[in-house]
Amino acid sequence: MRNKLYIDGKWVEGLSGEMIDVINPATEEVFAKVPAANAEDIDKAVGAARKAFDNGPWPKMEGRERAAYLRAMGKRIEERLKELARIEVLDNGKPLPEAEWDIGDVAACFYFYADMAEREDIKQEEIIELQDKRFTSKAVTVPLGVVGGIVPWNYPMLMAAWKIAPALAAGCTIVLKPAEQTPLTALEYGAIADDVKLPAGVLNIVTGFGSTAGQALLDHRGVDKLAFTGSVPTGSKVMQAAARDIKRVSLELGGKSPFLVFEDSDIDEAVEWVMFGIFWNQGQVCSATSRLLVHEAIYDKFLEKLAAETAKITIGNGLDEGILLGPLVSEKQYLQVLAAIGQGKKDGAKILTGGKRAKGFDKGYFVEPTILVDVPLTSHVWNEEIFGPVVAVRPFETESEAVHLANHSRFGLAAAIMTKDLKRAERVAGQLKAGIIWINCSQPTFVEAPWGGFKQSGIGRELGRWGYENYREIKQITSYVSNRPWGWYSK
Ligand code: NAI
Ligand code: MG
Repeated sequence: MRNKLYIDGKWVEGLSGEMIDVINPATEEVFAKVPAANAEDIDKAVGAARKAFDNGPWPKMEGRERAAYLRAMGKRIEERLKELARIEVLDNGKPLPEAEWDIGDVAACFYFYADMAEREDIKQEEIIELQDKRFTSKAVTVPLGVVGGIVPWNYPMLMAAWKIAPALAAGCTIVLKPAEQTPLTALEYGAIADDVKLPAGVLNIVTGFGSTAGQALLDHRGVDKLAFTGSVPTGSKVMQAAARDIKRVSLELGGKSPFLVFEDSDIDEAVEWVMFGIFWNQGQVCSATSRLLVHEAIYDKFLEKLAAETAKITIGNGLDEGILLGPLVSEKQYLQVLAAIGQGKKDGAKILTGGKRAKGFDKGYFVEPTILVDVPLTSHVWNEEIFGPVVAVRPFETESEAVHLANHSRFGLAAAIMTKDLKRAERVAGQLKAGIIWINCSQPTFVEAPWGGFKQSGIGRELGRWGYENYREIKQITSYVSNRPWGWYSK
């Protein structure tokens, strides 16, 4: 396992010498250590990224030259897929097939933005049609600058890819700080950059804690744009730090996404998507459909089936075969999730299944998949992100009631609708206040499609061309083309 920082194309020690224990959440063992970077390390990394942007070849290259690097990175990630997925499981705890899925998506993200870098070579100039024909004008986009990327622990390598790939494609340079709980696959990006001979300073990986390394990155005057995924309170700190220097900012924050199951749904199919929507990745998913609204006509039958299927979920070490639910990422997260379930009970919710530490483990942060019913509208579990395998359920009577309940949230990341009536699906999709709407499914994510939220779920969109545009600045270039003098002073 790598235990150094990757700055300016070199592997270096952290300046303070302080190290962070990397813990396997299935065994609670410390199996690696990485540097806890301080503000000076961040300053070095930003300096390297600044130099690579201001004086280096990267932003000046043709898109197709950058595309070749990105494609080579994608290929290297694919070649190392199994190994990278195992590191992700040791670090994060998720089941190995899900980790392999993530790493496949990481490679796909690099390939997609390689294509985009090439396509934008053609599209980056847009002629503006002016009414005043004495002038011609065009809009061009140019690389934005140095990016400070901060990512969470739930999809460690993938969330980093969502920042690194579009930023590099767009001609930016980046300093990326992974979460302190899951730093290892982020460091592998350094090795991958070495393998493809990425110019020094274009990509820098600095491990460290949020309040020190993270905050230093937010505050650094050499950073032009902050790209963040994580919690709402930290997202608010990102915006506050950005405000001083008017740094560009994009935020992908949390959610409490509703899943609306109408009475005409196929119950078996709905149960499967509902389970996937809240139990994959142990429910540690920003877009998890954690508020379940089920039409009263099928409520009892649906819950019976959901509870029966949930009881069959296999829990264990993500490296073992046939495991569907691994441990939560850390002791802190584990305690927080159990506390939220306890609070739910105090607030009057009833436990249909789960609710406790999973049985049969001496070690590891295992929580049973949990279904809470009769959940009061004012309770913590109904309104707040739990970020664990916990779904809160309520019945509804009418479509308009379901839409009203779904929208009654400070979040607006995603929402899912289950119905056979496609007219209704379209109508409800139009009324839901969320950045991502899933019809007859939950959670599928596509590199081509915009990803991000309404309200407190964030600002801006990642992925697709929107993700690329996050890392470009827009310039208007206007020419006076008339052969008559302008005539302001000479008249
Ligand atoms: P967090 O938002 O504090 O951590 C995410 C990243 O931000 C990490 O890299 C962390 O080191 C960094 N960070 C923390 N404080 C910072 C600061 N002052 N300046 C710069 N960077 C900073 O989230 P945390 O504490 O790990 O998890 C708490 C809750 O946040 C979870 O229970 C969940 O509800 C939510 N969360 C949401 C995620 C999402 O994908 N939307 C991902 C992770 C957590
Ligand atoms: Mg860990």
